[in-house]
Amino acid sequence: MRLCRSMSSLAVGAIGEKLELVDAFTASGIRGIRYAKENKNVKTLTLLDIDRRAISLAKKNIKASKLKPRTASTALGNISRLAFELDADFLEIDPFGTPSPYLVDAFRFFNTKKKAYLSVTATDVAVLCGGKIAPCQKNYHSKPMNNEFTHETGLRIMLKRIAEVAAEFNMGIRPLVSFSDKHYLKSVIEVRRSADLAFEAMSALGHVFFCEKCGERGFGKFPPNSCPGCGADADFAGMLWLGQLHDYDFLERMGNLNAQREYADKGEIGRMLSLMETEIGMPPYYFNIHALCKLARTVSVPTLDAVLEKLSSSGYKAHRTHFSPISIKTDAPLTAVREAVAGAV
Ligand SMILES: C[S@@+](CC[C@H](N)C(=O)[O-])C[C@H]1O[C@@H](n2cnc3c(N)ncnc32)[C@H](O)[C@@H]1O
Ligand SMILES: [Zn+2]
Repeated sequence: MRLCRSMSSLAVGAIGEKLELVDAFTASGIRGIRYAKENKNVKTLTLLDIDRRAISLAKKNIKASKLKPRTASTALGNISRLAFELDADFLEIDPFGTPSPYLVDAFRFFNTKKKAYLSVTATDVAVLCGGKIAPCQKNYHSKPMNNEFTHETGLRIMLKRIAEVAAEFNMGIRPLVSFSDKHYLKSVIEVRRSADLAFEAMSALGHVFFCEKCGERGFGKFPPNSCPGCGADADFAGMLWLGQLHDYDFLERMGNLNAQREYADKGEIGRMLSLMETEIGMPPYYFNIHALCKLARTVSVPTLDAVLEKLSSSGYKAHRTHFSPISIKTDAPLTAVREAVAGAV
């Protein structure tokens, strides 16, 4: 989880405002301690865990890290109980598996706040990005779809669930940075108290659809009854978040901080942040070039650069994506992507 912690620490720094930070599900405390050591804007840090051994280790680690006792403290107990006792401007929730059962607890930490930040990790990727409907409906009240852009779909389902709980607390969400990496999905989100913003977030929910037969894909409030490309039965996922996954200025600030820090994953983080910038404003799915070639029975697969070049020269936006090294994001329709792939071979 080193890259996840580094990305999140950059996000804490990019927020810039003074923060009362609670690292719930802290385990050894490493995550919260890194946030506080690396970012001057962490005013207070509370490391929270239900496990006595974790809290004892977190205490040792606070001492070893030389954080001042006035700045850093621990809280032993269940997040569901402590949510009524602690306030936070920034809350980290990184449980084992799904964050869903803890989202209501999370928003209670913001009860006294007009604006706050929620950093969420989901490691139940098999549920969010899997083909099984029941487990995802149970935890997220949404249908997943296991296809070539499933990681983006899974991330958007997680964000939908967060937007729904936020709305119940009269808050609207704005994802600042969101990504998929190895075995987890992650998003750092700004939440603001306002009925209008809550309504706005609800209006950003909808569906994506995908046709296995012809590769057509799209999005909208509701999925179509049949594929608009070939008329076959199309699969769909949702409801999910159709809004932006990232904020451009926020990513820029994270990138600037990354350039100043000597993280082991500095290069990879820099590349991810640059790719994420190009994902802003794009449709909520991507195109796997290998899958398209397979569908078209093309023997050789063109380079991504050649396909991107073809699409750009036809006037479309087209870029690589952090979600997959063999996929692109573009505003071009499927027919244009197919032509670009065929022309680039
Ligand atoms: C995945 S680990 C956290 C890892 C940590 N965030 C990191 O980056 O190293 C999950 C932790 O959550 C704690 N935990 C599980 N259920 C909890 C609950 N209901 N309230 C508070 N802590 C809980 C566990 O004891 C465990 O230490
Ligand atoms: Zn079709």
